[in-house]
Amino acid sequence: MERIIEVLENSFLIKKPVDNYLKGYFRFNKNFGSKDRSFISEAVYGVIRNYKRLQIRTNSSDIRVLVKSYLENNEFDKNVLDYPDFLIKNVNHEDLLFMQNNNEPHVDIRVNTLKSSVEKIMKELKPFNPIKLGKVYNGIRINKRVDFNTLKSFKEGHFEIQDEGSQIVAGMINSSKSILDYCAGAGGKSLFMADKIKNKGEIVSYDIYPEKLEELNKRAKRQGITIIETRYPFDNELFDTVIADVPCSGTGTFARNPDAKWRLVESKVEDLIKTGREILEKVKNNVKSGGSLSYITCSLMDMENIEQINWFLSKNKDFELLNQKTIRPSVDMTDGFFIANLLKK
Ligand SMILES: C[S@@+](CC[C@H](N)C(=O)[O-])C[C@H]1O[C@@H](n2cnc3c(N)ncnc32)[C@H](O)[C@@H]1O
Repeated sequence: MERIIEVLENSFLIKKPVDNYLKGYFRFNKNFGSKDRSFISEAVYGVIRNYKRLQIRTNSSDIRVLVKSYLENNEFDKNVLDYPDFLIKNVNHEDLLFMQNNNEPHVDIRVNTLKSSVEKIMKELKPFNPIKLGKVYNGIRINKRVDFNTLKSFKEGHFEIQDEGSQIVAGMINSSKSILDYCAGAGGKSLFMADKIKNKGEIVSYDIYPEKLEELNKRAKRQGITIIETRYPFDNELFDTVIADVPCSGTGTFARNPDAKWRLVESKVEDLIKTGREILEKVKNNVKSGGSLSYITCSLMDMENIEQINWFLSKNKDFELLNQKTIRPSVDMTDGFFIANLLKK
């Protein structure tokens, strides 16, 4: 019990990401066996997933009382929403319930068709009972947590880890041969697009953090991709396809990051909305006439999604909405995402 409290006090309660803290904690405390490690992490996440319900049950917010109560009884009413009020007000309740109640670990894979095929990887991963994903062209799901780092094919870039929801939205981006990925991060969308256009054409990937682009370069090299050029800083140029996968609240990813919902405050979302708008206003100048602008978030809140697009379209009459889609956890069994494809007239 003391260990669980120690972890929660040094991460969750001071609004630090729990997964990072736990990694360091276990690295430091080498004497814990695998049973101790899984007991601690399951209890830590159990308390976090049921934080509000534990407070109601115990009529206390003392972490010691909450942990004790959780260890005595870890059964909870699945229909009670365990989220801050701000999220209950702004996110579809079916999705909130789904993310809270469906947290069996799974890993989604995108096969790199430049180096391998779905059939080959399915065969190789047979011991893990792989399932071919239906909504994407080269995706596989494994219904447990697996460490692929020991597999030669993973190390050599034959497949990547990417949530099916992210693959679905990436599949909706216009696959031209001239692409700007403006919020590229470590490259989920850039690498997907490079595979889709068969490593022919050009992809320019930019991010405000150059260290993320270094990671992108490593991943591209591993995957045999040669058409991605990372840029920092970025000069103005025109592209047929511009992707703005903007920083957002991450409300679509709460099934796998349950502590994040307690770190999110309304003022932070307001800042993110402002940043999203600034990015849209910047990248609109990089879209060729007749080209497309794909706005993407992993949020399930209208204020970060369609309302951003409505705001942008009201100011930019030279753009029109081609299509939009929300990937919903409770419907698609994935993380949640939003994409709007806009046409530059
Ligand atoms: C949702 S993540 C991108 C994920 C990535 N596209 C992928 O598929 O793996 C948003 C990214 O936007 C970057 N970012 C934040 N503010 C930015 C800005 N003002 N301009 C460009 N990128 C920004 C962040 O560093 C982060 O990597």
